Amino acid sequence: MRLKRTHYCGQLNASLEGKEVALCGWVDRWRDHGGVVFIDLRDREGIAQIVFDPEQSPMELAGTLRQEFVIAIKGKIRKRPQGMENKNLPTGAIEVVVSDLELLNKAAQLPFSLHDDSPSAGEVDESLRLSYRYLELRKSQLQNSLRLRHEFLKSARDFYYQNKFWEIETPILYKSTPEGARDYLVPSRVHPGLFYALPQSPQTLKQLCMIGGLDRYVQIARCFRDEDLRADRQPEFTQIDVEMSFIDETEIQDLHEQLMQKVLREVLGKEVTVPFRRLKYQEAMTKYGSDKPDLRNSLELVELTEEGKRCSFQVYQTALGAGGILKGLCFEEKEPLSRSELDGLLKKVSPFGAKGITWIRIKSPGDWQSPQAKFFDDALKAEIESKLPFRQSAMLFLMCGKDTMVNNALSFLRLEYGKKLGYTDETRNEFLWVTDFPLLEFNEEDERFYAAHHPFTRPHPEDLKIFLEKNDKASLASVRACAYDLVWNGFEIGGGSLRIYDPQVQARMFEVLGIGPEEAKIKFGFFLKALQYGTPPHGGIALGVDRIAMLLAGTDAIRDVIAFPKTQKATCLMSEAPSVVDSKQLMELGLKILPKEPSTSN
Ligand code: AMO
Repeated sequence: MRLKRTHYCGQLNASLEGKEVALCGWVDRWRDHGGVVFIDLRDREGIAQIVFDPEQSPMELAGTLRQEFVIAIKGKIRKRPQGMENKNLPTGAIEVVVSDLELLNKAAQLPFSLHDDSPSAGEVDESLRLSYRYLELRKSQLQNSLRLRHEFLKSARDFYYQNKFWEIETPILYKSTPEGARDYLVPSRVHPGLFYALPQSPQTLKQLCMIGGLDRYVQIARCFRDEDLRADRQPEFTQIDVEMSFIDETEIQDLHEQLMQKVLREVLGKEVTVPFRRLKYQEAMTKYGSDKPDLRNSLELVELTEEGKRCSFQVYQTALGAGGILKGLCFEEKEPLSRSELDGLLKKVSPFGAKGITWIRIKSPGDWQSPQAKFFDDALKAEIESKLPFRQSAMLFLMCGKDTMVNNALSFLRLEYGKKLGYTDETRNEFLWVTDFPLLEFNEEDERFYAAHHPFTRPHPEDLKIFLEKNDKASLASVRACAYDLVWNGFEIGGGSLRIYDPQVQARMFEVLGIGPEEAKIKFGFFLKALQYGTPPHGGIALGVDRIAMLLAGTDAIRDVIAFPKTQKATCLMSEAPSVVDSKQLMELGLKILPKEPSTSN
């Protein structure tokens, strides 16, 4: 390279008028106005207009330039003629008159345009974009998202360093860690038939760091989980993983409120107030039907189980008799919902397992319009109305059945109608801690308990006796955990807990989870052993970096903040991973590929 860069394209401004600069970058747009060639030159920091003037510029070489050619130029900055400024471009007041040009590389014809305003831009499908991800990365939108992610990580790292955390790396080739998903396995060549598991999170390792006396650990950690993917989930993702000794729940929470406050201030220039709201899990489920409620939405669910028992609707009686609940979502009907909208409600809630939904239009107190209105007498109507936020021009959706189904369905409708009808203020940022999660979750299918967070989570001290001494389902299901989630605008951006540090309590946990002493020894023997050698009380949290970056960037797809994301089917379209390996590699590993059974394909 002959020319040495003096500035980034996006840094130029009118104060540099008359200066000679050297720029490097890609030819973004190219136009010829009667022999004078204008090029938008692009680099990571922005775009500058460069001008090839027949009087002073190397026109012959300029004539060979095409889109995405890589060039270096030298030239003088001048103000654009009056009326020719581009107010939409930070560098739009000036241009560079080129005196020297170096062609650094040519570019083949691109498979799609990088300009969103090009006629074919809307037709380019996502998979084509992902298979040329390095071209997509040239677009300013993606670059801005990655810049925000970088600024977030820098701000966070500084924060932890200031607070005396040590950044410690933990192994990727490790043993299965139970976070509830399937493991990605790596076969060992040296030990045929044995496998490493990629960590679903460094959970046991960070706890072992505490046992090792490291006191405050932080790691920007890669985690690997073979689970069903969604818009906010990737099979490999990043956590800010934290563990601290000799602390309690509030210290971890306070510290992470300060972290989020600093990050939003430094990355977005926005102020958020601390302390964040704290909501117990039970209260969150009752009021919002969700353990990650979006508090920008002012609607709350209404609990009506007792009232439901007194209405004469047989469907409710059956569901409530079987232990179900009745809850409602009520909002002001500024514009009456259309009949087709009301008819379409069932379709919206059926994915949650709902068989029906009741809508009631309350025109004024006692004046109910609904196919089911006849099942409610006047006294009951008045009682229900007394619990509603609106009794005039109101719409009430009622759902009755199993609590999980009712909560999931109403929480979905709360979000949808909250947005549609203006109950959600999207300009706000709402953080909250959800605390006191249940320790255990009972799975009806395999008739056993699973850890709601993970098996190292400490039972709530008030419930410890029940946990240690009771064996019946209802008692164990009632045990709360010292576990907390951090929620931002309806997204779970972090989760953590205080940990068990008594080996007996840990052994009891494995027992409750149906992991026998032999299995526990094979899977976690090393960990149970370590707990015996002077384990300090400790706890921690992990923040989802990709999700936080997604919210900082204002997008709703996690892919937008990951340089090389995977598809919904966990593939990389660019490199075509996963891919076949040659038979020699398989032989070395002692592996044989069996034909895939049709039932296991998805
Ligand atoms: P948990 O499993 O709750 O806790 O994960 C912590 C946070 O990581 C993010 N996250 C994900 N982000 C993208 N794609 C995924 N597949 C994905 N899964 C989780 C979420 C979540 O809140 N070891 C514990 C933490 C601890 O107890 O300290 C753990 O991993 O934002």
